Amino acid sequence: MDKEQETIELLKRYNQNHIVNLLKKLDGIKKQELLNQINRIDFEQIMELYDNTKKKIEIKENKIESISYLDKAKLSKEQKERFDKLGEDIIRNGKYAVVTMAGGQGTRLGHSGPKGTFKLDVYGKGKYLFEILKDNIEEANEKYNTIIQWYIMTSKENNQETVEFLEKHNYFGYPKEAVTIFNQSELPLVDTEGKLLINKDMKIKEASDGNGGTYSSLRASGALADMKNKGIKWVFIGSVDNALLKMADVTLLGMAIDKNVQIASKSVVKANPHEKVGVFCRMNGHPKVIEYTELPEKMAEEVDSNGELKYGESHIMCNLYTIDAIEKASTEPLIYHSAFKKNSYIDEDGKEIIPKEANSYKFEAFIFDAFEFFDDIAILRGKREEDFAPVKNKEGVDSPKTAKELYEKYWNKQNKK
Ligand code: UD1
Repeated sequence: MDKEQETIELLKRYNQNHIVNLLKKLDGIKKQELLNQINRIDFEQIMELYDNTKKKIEIKENKIESISYLDKAKLSKEQKERFDKLGEDIIRNGKYAVVTMAGGQGTRLGHSGPKGTFKLDVYGKGKYLFEILKDNIEEANEKYNTIIQWYIMTSKENNQETVEFLEKHNYFGYPKEAVTIFNQSELPLVDTEGKLLINKDMKIKEASDGNGGTYSSLRASGALADMKNKGIKWVFIGSVDNALLKMADVTLLGMAIDKNVQIASKSVVKANPHEKVGVFCRMNGHPKVIEYTELPEKMAEEVDSNGELKYGESHIMCNLYTIDAIEKASTEPLIYHSAFKKNSYIDEDGKEIIPKEANSYKFEAFIFDAFEFFDDIAILRGKREEDFAPVKNKEGVDSPKTAKELYEKYWNKQNKK
């Protein structure tokens, strides 16, 4: 059997006859490209993920406990100074790098470009989210007399646009040689019958496989090796869409060093039981975040003896790792979660279908699922008004309007100091 016939048999085995038909219609380079793509796809994995969409998520509550944390505002002077000194030494000595995850689609925000290119209407002139992040790293550079290496993760889909945007704006003055842009991995989209969607370019439609892909993509892209070459010991990974994200918090870093842990995270108290944030807990003794989409209502509302939410430490995507922890997370497989979404596709007659309702599954790994690989995590409770101004939705909560207010309030206060 020749290679092409083998591929056809494989497709049939996995109930992908529509792709067999598509192959028959193509020739030359288009056909070869599709064949190459098919041979890259792990159909066994995709079908398993598809089968999982029919199973109910189970959270065994008896093995879940709340997690301990330190409150930054309640640290003693001595403790804070000790942490700050430990953290500062790492940053000053060039052993600290920052990763921005900018591969998301930003669908909820209704911004058509990469999310980092969204301009937040602050102080009249406005600032792009990438620019706000740059300001924050630059502030640390000035304070600690260093140049922090900045790694930006894009998706294949938004890479070009991101690079062009940053070039056009001259990286907002950040030293270009300290910026590395790399791509995250992708997985095919699957319809309700387990069939892979076809894209306009006559290939199988793929999409970013969630921010959990960050670790393996750091490895695959060579960014992890680059960090090691540069002597980086600690890596911060944060989101692109928090206008108050503090990427070089020496207290958090020092606390992690002091506690001798491999991972650390900044949290804020959950605004209300149903806020759309993941929450920290311990599951089977290991640190864990339960995402808002998967948190049972009863757990979301549970309060402790002080009347505080038992699972009230929010994951604000402000995570810190030793380089060894990144290495470990980059080789261990993460579980995939599925999201049922609207995705356009090409039907068997070659017509583009733009669905009105969700029609297909996107599989995503979550960055925090790697926390379970570790015995412990250091959690530092920060303050919402200092650390968390998410830009998620077009209007209402976590919108440009609320982020602008938080950002300006914070900076007005800083500038008065
Ligand atoms: C995320 C967190 C949630 C947290 C909240 C805080 C996850 C799965 N959820 O929710 O626990 O409480 O932020 O604001 O992390 N991204 C990629 N590639 C992808 C998908 C996302 O780089 O394939 C990036 C986005 O660009 C963004 C970040 O990950 O920087 C968060 O993405 P999103 O998927 O929108 O998470 P949320 O639902 O907001």
